[in-house]
Amino acid sequence: MSTADAPLPAPVRAEILALAAQELRPRGASVAALRLVQARFGWVSTPHLHEVAALLGMSADDLDGIATYFNLLFRRPVGRHVVMLCDSVSCWIMGREPLCAHLCRTLGIKPGETTADNAITLLPTVCIGHCDHAPAMLVDSILHGDVDMATLDHLINRLRDTP
Ligand code: FES
Repeated sequence: MSTADAPLPAPVRAEILALAAQELRPRGASVAALRLVQARFGWVSTPHLHEVAALLGMSADDLDGIATYFNLLFRRPVGRHVVMLCDSVSCWIMGREPLCAHLCRTLGIKPGETTADNAITLLPTVCIGHCDHAPAMLVDSILHGDVDMATLDHLINRLRDTP
C-alpha cells in the first residue's frame, strides 16, 4: 500500500483537528489542512481528501472543489520539484511559448507531465502577478521573473541535482 492510500498518521489528523478548532467553522481550515497533507505526502490523494473532509465535517465533493480551485494544491502525484510557467497574456507576449518549448525539449515531457526520474513536473499556471517581469514562473513556489533560456537551463540543472 502506498502512503497516499494509507490512512493519515495520527499526528496529522490531530494537527488538522487543531487547525479546525481555531476556526469559527471547521471548514475554514480546509486550505490549511490540505496544505498540511501536501507538505507531508507531496500531493493530496483521494483517500486523504476523504479523510480531511470527514475531519472537517464537510463533503468530499465540497473539499475537492476547494482543492482543485487552488493551483498550488496538487490532486495528482508530482515530481520532487514543480515548475509552473505562467501562460497568461503578458508572459505569452514576452515569449513564454519558446521558453515552454525549450523546457519540454530539455526535460523530454509535455506540460502536465513529470520527468521519468520523477525530478521535475512542468505545469502551466494562470497569471502569478509578476507581469511587469514577464515571462515569469514559480519553481517550488519561488517566484522568478524576466526568465530567459539561460535562466531556465541554470534552474533545471540545479533542480536535477537537488534531492
Ligand atoms: S501574465 Fe504572467 S505573471 Fe502575469
